[in-house]
Amino acid sequence: MIDLRSDTVTRPTAAMRQAMFAAEVGDDVYGEDPTVNRLEAVAAERLGKEAALFLPSGTMANQVAIRCHTQPGDEVILEAGAHPFHYEAGAAAMISGVLLRLLPGVDGALDPAQVQAAFRGPDVHVAPQTLVCVEDTSNRGGGTPWSLAALDQVAAVAHAAGAATHMDGARLWNAVVATGVPADRRARGYDTVAFCLSKGLGAPVGSLLCGPAALIGRARRVRKALGGGMRQAGFLAAAGLYALDHHVERLALDHARAADLAAGLRGLGLAPSPAPTNMVYVEVEDAPATVEALRARGVLCNAVGPSRLRLVTHLDIDDEDVAAAVDAFRQVRGG
Ligand SMILES: Cc1ncc(COP(=O)(O)O)c(C=O)c1O
Repeated sequence: MIDLRSDTVTRPTAAMRQAMFAAEVGDDVYGEDPTVNRLEAVAAERLGKEAALFLPSGTMANQVAIRCHTQPGDEVILEAGAHPFHYEAGAAAMISGVLLRLLPGVDGALDPAQVQAAFRGPDVHVAPQTLVCVEDTSNRGGGTPWSLAALDQVAAVAHAAGAATHMDGARLWNAVVATGVPADRRARGYDTVAFCLSKGLGAPVGSLLCGPAALIGRARRVRKALGGGMRQAGFLAAAGLYALDHHVERLALDHARAADLAAGLRGLGLAPSPAPTNMVYVEVEDAPATVEALRARGVLCNAVGPSRLRLVTHLDIDDEDVAAAVDAFRQVRGG
């Protein structure tokens, strides 16, 4: 099967498994796992933050951040396609008791003036607006990296209004490779940043939440409260360290393959999204039926609406897979 459903489907390479096998471990809830401690130090350093926390998932990283930045009854401002709204099982309401205020964006990015206009001041009728979240790259926004200017200006607007800022950088390294702007620079305006090891970077498990030492200390307690305290997690952290050392630059290959896939679909008369990183979205007449027809030809992808498909390139997809996927589309379209 050529699995283009998500970049989460990758399996660890032989070299990554070797690094996991050889990891030195301890009890991380006691703070005694040397490999987790090293991963947290490396993540904080690469993001230009004081500290970092290793968590089991991107969802938990986002939710722990929201919990640490807000009080129940607060309002969190996000772009309308944001992951915490669409795909985190209502956790922001369940865990933090916050309102999510969704603003319509373009390719997942918000206009700083629009964020400015969303702040309603200290009126007693209004929920305290204590957090602005951005998603870089934006998943539902086509895998699009934010412009650096918009990232900086949205953060400045939020801080001027007294709100904190959080970046959901599940695919931050894709944005870094696509734009050439380093992670610590993209994240500069953001009090906290979450990034995933288990997407394009190809590790089996894990995300990092990076930010100020005091907040990360509180985040450690929230992680424990949610059952996310892991013990000999160094086996997983070793995969993450390996991924940060070996799988960042190669994301350019995934981006080139997504562009090739989009070009191939265009050649069949379809109108795919521009594919600036590793995602291709394309409209078809009947998405669920197309998913099934492609599956019958050995290609997996996701329907993300009645007529919308998403295809994602990753570590386990090569040039031949891309050519075969285009061919499967050709057959499904009767070409
Ligand atoms: C933008 C974004 N944020 C957060 C997550 C959550 O990551 P996880 O699946 O590890 O919970 C995802 C997962 O696809 C994502 O795409």
